[in-house]
Amino acid sequence: MELTSQEQAMLEGKEGYAVRKSMEILVALGDIYGANSLVKVGSVQVAGVSYHNLGDAGLEFLNELAKDGKVKVLTTLNPAGMDLENWRTLGISEEFAEKQNQVIEAFERMGILVSCTCTPYLIGNLPRYGEHLAWSESSAVTFANSVLGAKTNREGGPSALAAAFVGKTPCYGLHLDENRIPDIHVKVEAALVKVSDWGALGYAIGRKAENKIAYITGIKEADVDQLKSFCASVVTYGAKPLFYMQGMTPASETVNVPNETIAIDQSDLKNAYDNINDQVSDIDLVCVGCPHCSIKEISEIADLVKGKRVSEKTEFWVATSRTAKQLADKRGYTQVIEAAGGKFACDTCMAVAPLKGRFKALATTSAKGCFYSRQNLMKTKMGSLRECVDAAVSGKWSS
Ligand code: F3S
Repeated sequence: MELTSQEQAMLEGKEGYAVRKSMEILVALGDIYGANSLVKVGSVQVAGVSYHNLGDAGLEFLNELAKDGKVKVLTTLNPAGMDLENWRTLGISEEFAEKQNQVIEAFERMGILVSCTCTPYLIGNLPRYGEHLAWSESSAVTFANSVLGAKTNREGGPSALAAAFVGKTPCYGLHLDENRIPDIHVKVEAALVKVSDWGALGYAIGRKAENKIAYITGIKEADVDQLKSFCASVVTYGAKPLFYMQGMTPASETVNVPNETIAIDQSDLKNAYDNINDQVSDIDLVCVGCPHCSIKEISEIADLVKGKRVSEKTEFWVATSRTAKQLADKRGYTQVIEAAGGKFACDTCMAVAPLKGRFKALATTSAKGCFYSRQNLMKTKMGSLRECVDAAVSGKWSS
């Protein structure tokens, strides 16, 4: 990889330890993937924030970098292992909270915005079309590449941090136009009625278009919440973190429709639900907000739970960014949801919080949430917001 004189100086340690270490990571990555140069990034999104995943070794690594490392571009964080304010309400232990706070403090010393969300594009980290980024979290990466038309690989935590300290990332993979050409045409012939259908669609396309870039036709309407749900699912279940959706995503008119064609019909959606849903009726955790809830989704939840009461056998979590929660506070949605017995899980989510062994069966709107909750040894049920609220109230999955 060719380096400018300034990049060479960074590699030689002229800007300190964190920048040198970062350049070593970026040069190694660039060499592995055949990049010719580094490219400037507009923003960075760092995953690997939960102490549950980092452990003491990860915390030590962050503390070393935080000694002299300062980010050069807007850098936001993925969800942490707990709600940074109300962790006790969510049953997080003192020991875990202490370590998680140390992780957050290290990121803060680096100048990173403690946003702790997988929807940074909803709270101020909004890239422009064509902008190069170094983002980590798979649903956010897919949203940035596809819905916003920005350009990012799916970074690991360390390579995203390295890009933040240098302000650049190796130019390979999805940074290059030749690697952004769709290779499979997906005709959607299924009706999409509820938000979980978008997760089921992502499952079906991800499985059939494994490791491919899909060009999707047949969808007449899609709002941001439906697209973020689809982004989370399609990449979790196998596709590349980039798709084109005719008439819905900005670059869909700039590429040719591929010859290889598959169709997704109602039976594919049913098959997705059959695979995602386990045989279980008692539900002890209902969690919505994967990816993190928008303020619109929070308002819909408030409407659905108003005047109801969450079952004593069930916890009902609304996962969202703290910023969205602050808006919900102002609009009175928080009060309605909490009066019904719901809990906000800000800054965190069901995949990165230490939940293994705490719950037996999850109900959610999210196909991705089901994937990760199974790794936490939970049985899973996926359905609409209404079905999830019903499960929270009755403690049972009824459909
Ligand atoms: Fe976000 Fe966690 Fe889902 S990071 S996409 S809420 S698994």
